[in-house]
Amino acid sequence: MDNPANTFPVVGSFIKRRDKEILLNQKARVIWMTGLSGSGKTTIAIHLERLLYQKGFFTQVFDADYLRATLHRDLDFTLEGRAENIRRIAVMSRIFLEAGVIVINCFISPTKKIRQLARKIIGYHDFIEVYVNASFEKCEKRDPKGLYKKARQGLVKNFTGIDSPYEAPDNPDIELNTDKYSIENVVKQLSDFIIPKIILKVT
Ligand code: ADX
Repeated sequence: MDNPANTFPVVGSFIKRRDKEILLNQKARVIWMTGLSGSGKTTIAIHLERLLYQKGFFTQVFDADYLRATLHRDLDFTLEGRAENIRRIAVMSRIFLEAGVIVINCFISPTKKIRQLARKIIGYHDFIEVYVNASFEKCEKRDPKGLYKKARQGLVKNFTGIDSPYEAPDNPDIELNTDKYSIENVVKQLSDFIIPKIILKVT
């Protein structure tokens, strides 16, 4: 019971994940991007998804703003609210994974504990941790949604990097530095890393 990854209901009569992967001609994975607000997660997801689509891969992106406005509108930005946000996203990702889909997630997922939980729910082998690294200063400068400014004015509480923590991963599967490199460059780095892992090898 301690590894929920092993408890996904596999009933004999359901079509198996492997058969769905064969149908879709791909290996399902969860590409989990973590990083500060404004680090570039969503922009990378948009470009990566388009590139994978052109190469014939079937994907689904989960993005923070939509989920937090809908299914997760009961959750706040305390560490407890964030943990529940990530737990639910990990469960949904697991369901999509079992459907053979390549999932691309863009969530701050700010602590090691929270990401550990996600990894456990999804399964160690299928969880690809992508650290979208941009300095706090750069993210605050970009401020695409004007939230850093509001947080500085005290209008937004528990803001990541201001009055709520962000712990960078120690050992991500891949790190993309959006301070140093262009979006095109980091998407190329990521797709070069991902594509060998999502090509189905039929033995
Ligand atoms: S997480 O920490 O639980 O993973 P999530 O990725 O879902 O966060 O949501 C982050 C997005 O919510 C940000 O990109 C930003 O648009 C918005 N947001 C609103 N309030 C906050 C806040 N206090 N801290 C961080 N992001 C916030």
